[in-house]
Amino acid sequence: MTAAPVLSVEHLTIRFGGLVAIDDLSFEVAPGDITALIGPNGAGKTTVFNCITGFYKPDIGRLTFRPAAGPEYLLERMDGFRIARAGVVRTFQNIRLFPGMSVAENLMVAQHVPLMRASLFSVAGFLRLPRFLHAETEAVERARYWLDRTDLLAVADLPAGSLPYGAQRRLEIARAMCASPSLLCLDEPAAGLNPRESQALNDLLLSIRDEHGISILLIEHDMSVVMQISDRIIVLEQGRKISEGTPTDVQADPEVVRAYLGVEDEETAVAVLHGEGGHV
Ligand SMILES: Nc1ncnc2c1ncn2[C@@H]1O[C@H](COP(=O)(O)OP(=O)(O)OP(=O)(O)O)[C@@H](O)[C@H]1O
Ligand SMILES: [Mg+2]
Repeated sequence: MTAAPVLSVEHLTIRFGGLVAIDDLSFEVAPGDITALIGPNGAGKTTVFNCITGFYKPDIGRLTFRPAAGPEYLLERMDGFRIARAGVVRTFQNIRLFPGMSVAENLMVAQHVPLMRASLFSVAGFLRLPRFLHAETEAVERARYWLDRTDLLAVADLPAGSLPYGAQRRLEIARAMCASPSLLCLDEPAAGLNPRESQALNDLLLSIRDEHGISILLIEHDMSVVMQISDRIIVLEQGRKISEGTPTDVQADPEVVRAYLGVEDEETAVAVLHGEGGHV
């Protein structure tokens, strides 16, 4: 028996005025998989994330989240704060860190909900209840762990905004991981990275999947990332799903090659889909 999907998207539809940005989209994310959402600019990828994480309310559709433990959630009925608490955590296409805070502080802020809960949402926390101290120690340990995993320990005390771009991208992932997600949604984590950094990102995402068993939903234009690490790929064009399958299936699908033809010619589209042409 295969395990129930960690996320089921059913008939998702959202309009902006006259524009149907997402049109009757259905797909699933299997637990412990890296599932990629790809497609040309404006296809609706970020809009899907905005619906899953409560930024937008879909006009139609059901978004069912099933964490490994606990109840099911209907995300379209929840606000963003509760969705994050339930275990769906995202990063943004444009980096959103607190640039003036240190790297370590950015990770502690990500954990403020458990810390506040442990402090009983009151000044009791500051009176150093053992329960709060325990949660605080755990939060520090978790931050240290993810700083280490993302190669940021040495810069923990620097302002986040002073880091090079690639390091800021890694910090975003570390911050998301400190919120202990069941489903990690990454919007173009490889954007602006050089090939060496992209390769390091692949290793990090594979270890998040394999060592931590966390499901990943990945939006990415860099095919050298997508094709190497994805278990399954969903291809969007103008808000509709035009293809779905393994990397090999999708690379060989004439519909996908056609969608990427806007790039230039067929040869270029095929090269791009094999991660040889860089970003689309
Ligand atoms: N809040 C909004 N109001 C109006 N139109 C929007 C809004 N958000 C998205 N759109 C439109 O919906 C469509 C899909 O946009 P979206 O940002 O989801 O694309 P994308 O696939 O993430 O593209 P990219 O690869 O460039 O990031 C676009 O036509 C965009 O202009
Ligand atoms: Mg986008």
